[in-house]
Amino acid sequence: MSLKFEVALQACTQDLARELDIVLPHSDGAEKRLHEAMHYSVQAGGKRLRAFLVLQSAHLFGVSKASALRVAAAIEIIHTYSLIHDDLPCMDDDELRRGLPTVHIKYDEATAVLAGDALLTLAFEVLGDESYHSDPAIRARLVVAVARAAGPQGMVAGQMIDLDSETVNEPDVQHITRLQQLKTGALIAVACEAGAILGRASEQQFLALHAYAHDLGLAFQIVDDILDAEGDAEAMGKAVKKDADRGKATFVSILGIERARTQARMLADQAAKHLEPFAEKADLLKDLANFVIERRN
Ligand code: IPE
Ligand code: IPE
Ligand code: MG
Ligand code: MG
Ligand code: MG
Repeated sequence: MSLKFEVALQACTQDLARELDIVLPHSDGAEKRLHEAMHYSVQAGGKRLRAFLVLQSAHLFGVSKASALRVAAAIEIIHTYSLIHDDLPCMDDDELRRGLPTVHIKYDEATAVLAGDALLTLAFEVLGDESYHSDPAIRARLVVAVARAAGPQGMVAGQMIDLDSETVNEPDVQHITRLQQLKTGALIAVACEAGAILGRASEQQFLALHAYAHDLGLAFQIVDDILDAEGDAEAMGKAVKKDADRGKATFVSILGIERARTQARMLADQAAKHLEPFAEKADLLKDLANFVIERRN
């Protein structure tokens, strides 16, 4: 990992924490518990990869940091809502996330459902608000792109297929690839494309970023599956070996660890190659592809 990359990811994490604090609601009223649960989950840490993708893709087009950070916050808020709901007893039934008790354990199930609902809705309020970008056409494009990625033909569809895959008889690589593209890939892709939308990129630039995001997202989920199979729960801050216990179809269950690892490496290299047209401006995005497959959490 280059030092430059580590410093940039750290700076992104700090800037994002401040931005999230501005965007999240604060209240001492009767709804205080809801707002606290939102802060608890969103500010619990996390690698902030999606935020980093927004900031770095925006950097390619000279977009202001203030605009990019606001969009990054919205996408990380959606990601956190998805984790709160993913951990619920009716879904993956997990008690640890980002090294802390999950929201339904720390608070209760109803609060976890509501905190997720509130975060998802808040993200679209943020994306629609004129304070971060004056052009309503750009804001509308972002709202539609993020809604598509997160919604019934994106992440939520992927979560449905993922749950159903516990009962699919013989899932193959094609089934798993589609599942992941929806479940994880779509939000990662829109994080990469957000910078291109903000920066009014050309069609060609857009396609290059899309190709990068596609391969990066796939590599990311393969590694998530590998880490579930052989990672260290302490380093991960979440339970491991859950996928096999639940009989989930994953890249590891289909390919085995070694082939999954080779595939992830190949995809990360391929992802970086798609960024050649951006030359050294895309160096940190290239480093990120490497980080995704070398990460331990
Ligand atoms: C975990 O995502 C859930 C998946 C989409 C596989 P991350 O590994 O990016 O989680 P955080 O944000 O770093 O906690
Ligand atoms: C979760 O996938 C993906 C979403 C939240 C959309 P996983 O269930 O594999 O994530 P982890 O392993 O619990 O973080
Ligand atoms: Mg899940
Ligand atoms: Mg899970
Ligand atoms: Mg997982």
